[in-house]
Amino acid sequence: MSITFDFTGRTVVVTGGARGIGRALSDCFAAAGATLAVADVDAEALAEVTVDHPDAIPLEIDVSDAASVAAGIDDVVARTGRLDVVVNNAGILRDRVVWKLTDDDWQAVLGVHLTGTFNMTRAAIPTMREQQYGRIVNVTSYTGLHGNVGQANYAAAKAGIIGFTRTTAKELARFGITVNAISPNAETDMVASIPADKRAELEAQIPIGRFSSPAEAAPAVAFLASAEAGYVTGVVLPVDGGLSI
Ligand SMILES: NC(=O)c1ccc[n+]([C@@H]2O[C@H](COP(=O)([O-])OP(=O)(O)OC[C@H]3O[C@@H](n4cnc5c(N)ncnc54)[C@H](O)[C@@H]3O)[C@@H](O)[C@H]2O)c1
Repeated sequence: MSITFDFTGRTVVVTGGARGIGRALSDCFAAAGATLAVADVDAEALAEVTVDHPDAIPLEIDVSDAASVAAGIDDVVARTGRLDVVVNNAGILRDRVVWKLTDDDWQAVLGVHLTGTFNMTRAAIPTMREQQYGRIVNVTSYTGLHGNVGQANYAAAKAGIIGFTRTTAKELARFGITVNAISPNAETDMVASIPADKRAELEAQIPIGRFSSPAEAAPAVAFLASAEAGYVTGVVLPVDGGLSI
């Protein structure tokens, strides 16, 4: 038996879809036939995606800004008539030990990861409810469950995303909407920004012995976003080379 996921006729929005894991997700959904909207705050990277995917809808939005998100989602629904999949992947780091974290470090990280996930989910629900169909895939992290020195803001946001995923999975199941999360470990600019010694320490803890490529995170998201995964909801799927074992 061979299973390939076909997203033809499905409207898919990937936040942070212009770089890193999100870019790999954009490539994957485009290859699988989706009507793709790439949502990102980075206009330059967004322009590069649309060179490779001229049919994709570039959405220059800041996920932490509710008005920006609402306008972006309205635009996608107006142009495609649907909203089937939202992947809440956008992220930033502002790493410092907790006693050095500024209000801005705290608010910015919580704003993009946690409030961003809330903003996108809330904006997507009316259309998904009307369709009685939706797939929401959030991106959390090992740090959200285990903590990491210098990442109290990030860990709090990612732990919040797990609670948010499980709660919205329960609330939205009756409308044919599933909500799941992945916990990746991929070689991206975000990982490159971690100091070399910390990075090597982390890599040594991964049973598979390396970070994944961004593309290796995509099949797990495609599965959770597929129509075929309709009986899977509220899970956090580690795509982490065994780090969380
Ligand atoms: N790379 C890893 O190993 C790893 C591990 C665990 C979790 N994650 C999570 O995976 C997700 C993607 O991370 P990545 O490594 O690809 O990072 P990245 O820095 O390579 O890409 C993040 C993307 O999000 C976009 N973005 C940032 N702020 C935004 C905003 N306010 N609105 C819209 N877009 C915004 C950026 O422009 C960029 O395109 C993040 O949520 C991250 O926390 C990554």
